[in-house]
Amino acid sequence: MSRLLVASLPARTPSSLLDLGAGEGALALEASSRWKCLDLVTVDVDHHASRVLAQQLQRRGFAGRHRHVQQDALEVDLCRRLSQEMKWRPSAAVCNPPFLVPAWRKGYCSIVEDAGFSGALPAITSTDAATLFLAQNLRLMEMGGTVAIIVPDSLVSASKYQRFRETLLAKYDLQQAIRLPRGAFAGTDALAHVFVVAKRKPANDLVRLSVLPALGAKVKSIYVDRDRAAKRLDYFFHASQQQQQHPPSLALADIVVDLRRGSFNSAEVRASPAFVLHTTDIHQAMRGTWFDFTGGDETYRDERFKSAVIAEAGDILLSRVGRNAADKVIGVLAGSIAISDCLYRLRVGPDHRVSVLRSLTSAAGESWLKAHAYGVAARQISKADLLMLPVEPL
Ligand SMILES: C[S@@+](CC[C@H](N)C(=O)[O-])C[C@H]1O[C@@H](n2cnc3c(N)ncnc32)[C@H](O)[C@@H]1O
Repeated sequence: MSRLLVASLPARTPSSLLDLGAGEGALALEASSRWKCLDLVTVDVDHHASRVLAQQLQRRGFAGRHRHVQQDALEVDLCRRLSQEMKWRPSAAVCNPPFLVPAWRKGYCSIVEDAGFSGALPAITSTDAATLFLAQNLRLMEMGGTVAIIVPDSLVSASKYQRFRETLLAKYDLQQAIRLPRGAFAGTDALAHVFVVAKRKPANDLVRLSVLPALGAKVKSIYVDRDRAAKRLDYFFHASQQQQQHPPSLALADIVVDLRRGSFNSAEVRASPAFVLHTTDIHQAMRGTWFDFTGGDETYRDERFKSAVIAEAGDILLSRVGRNAADKVIGVLAGSIAISDCLYRLRVGPDHRVSVLRSLTSAAGESWLKAHAYGVAARQISKADLLMLPVEPL
């Protein structure tokens, strides 16, 4: 992963390279292998990590210059501290920030403002550290410099970051967004991407979206125009749309009667006196079939089920979250069943029930659902996206 990230930077030796949150230096070490005489500056709050990095550089015979700054990388005055360490602003940066939402500090506003992201970020209580690390890198970098940074899937896919993506694409030259395979980082299943951003106005209207299908595989790319790319900076999302030769004649939004998620969370499902259908109850063999739920009707008259979402004959149930969400799609043949909040209840008129269930479970429907699911850990599909599902007529 480090090699891919460092290789995505321009070939010329940077005048100096910055690694914010360098840790034990996986990225800095890779950069030092590519450019032997590098002027390298690493920053991390953790002192121990820097000692390991210094030893590694020495062992590998690094011929450049390395300085480590033990400091919070998100300090507003980091610029002043770095100018003591490096003569010029960095012309390249690598970064693998922590995937968390930090407690907001006043100084973050200046970092965000200086990078031109004011008003483009979601609520401060839900802004990922990655946006702050990206902003800080762009703020510190010389004009024309390039940063390669690992970001969580939320920045790429979540609607709360749409304004951020629009601003990023308008103010900077996003040279490439690379989707990494799940499990790319030891010990985590998080879905992450690499952004390669040059600090200059965009050179053209096309954005390169790439995917690394598996570790060691070849990167595949497509080009998407900037306006569409802002919707999602995700290879699969746009590749699946480009494969659709013709726009669908019918979308789910055209025929939906009701679409809502269930009302019971996992704890309530466990405590419920009557059976509540959860994603784990829907097995592979049930996929795409019409299922008979006759038998539960009496219990659901209980007071506790008054405001519950109950699925009835003709409804279609599908998983809203989870890695195998596209597998968990069934129809209700008869009876009624309360559902958990991990499931959607989809209601369409009798004429469309069969075609909708078939569209959701066809090979094309399955890849469509996978391409439109988003999320760093558990994948989920939003209502707005689901309503765009193309429905194949019978
Ligand atoms: C995900 S690790 C990445 C480490 C290394 N760059 C790599 O790719 O393996 C994130 C690193 O950021 C450091 N870190 C987290 N918050 C920081 C902050 N506010 N300032 C400086 N370093 C920070 C952590 O100590 C940790 O070493």
